[in-house]
Amino acid sequence: AEVIIVRDQEEAGNAAASLFVEHLKHKPDAVLGLATGSTPLTTYAALASAVREHGLDVSKVRGFALDEYLGIPPEHPQSYRSVITSEVVEPLGLTPSLVMTPRGTGPNVEAAGDEYELAIRAAGGIDVQILGIGTNGHIAFNEPGSSLGSTTRLKALAAQTRADNARFFDSPAEVPSHCITQGLGTIQRARHLVLLAFGTAKAPAVAAALEGPVSASVPGSIVQLHPWATVILDEEAASQLM
Ligand code: F6R
Repeated sequence: AEVIIVRDQEEAGNAAASLFVEHLKHKPDAVLGLATGSTPLTTYAALASAVREHGLDVSKVRGFALDEYLGIPPEHPQSYRSVITSEVVEPLGLTPSLVMTPRGTGPNVEAAGDEYELAIRAAGGIDVQILGIGTNGHIAFNEPGSSLGSTTRLKALAAQTRADNARFFDSPAEVPSHCITQGLGTIQRARHLVLLAFGTAKAPAVAAALEGPVSASVPGSIVQLHPWATVILDEEAASQLM
């Protein structure tokens, strides 16, 4: 992977957004892979400014979110559908019907993973995938132990991840216990990976992902296998790299 170390989240967002803009310039109907959580927020803000500045037509841009909580309806304020709508679709001016999130409710939800894989394939695959990394090394909601070849499926959230995400809910008990997430195999098939990480809490996971063995114990280590991965870190997140 190519590793870029920047001063702060602002600069990281600008760097990641300019990578996205390159894709959009070459392919007006590019397929973006979208993460939620805190990490991509400066990227989405910078991308929204870039779209305005360059007057890019993004009406044909397509998107696939990485994951969704199981059992909370799309209109719940903490559903990833809601988050992607308010952080990405609205500020960038994307066409809402072209941006997908995995289905976390409804009949036969066990089939939602395969449906999502088919939709990604029908779109021609993901061109550029933005990723954060969990303090335990997870990417999307592929917790340690996830199969390296996995596809979109239902998963239980690790206790650590539920604790990390409790800040978005009124109480820790409200954090859903399960999710539907793109698999590590799904993520590997995206043509360009852009992984961002900030702060000392992420430093051990970043070091393990970039410099440790490629292993299901550290899902983020799949970036080492990817032919085109860009990793953007602040100095704190990079502090345990050799
Ligand atoms: C979110 C996701 C997660 C986060 C990770 C880091 O769609 O897939 O893997 O990227 O939990 O979360 P933040 O960015 O909030 O530190």
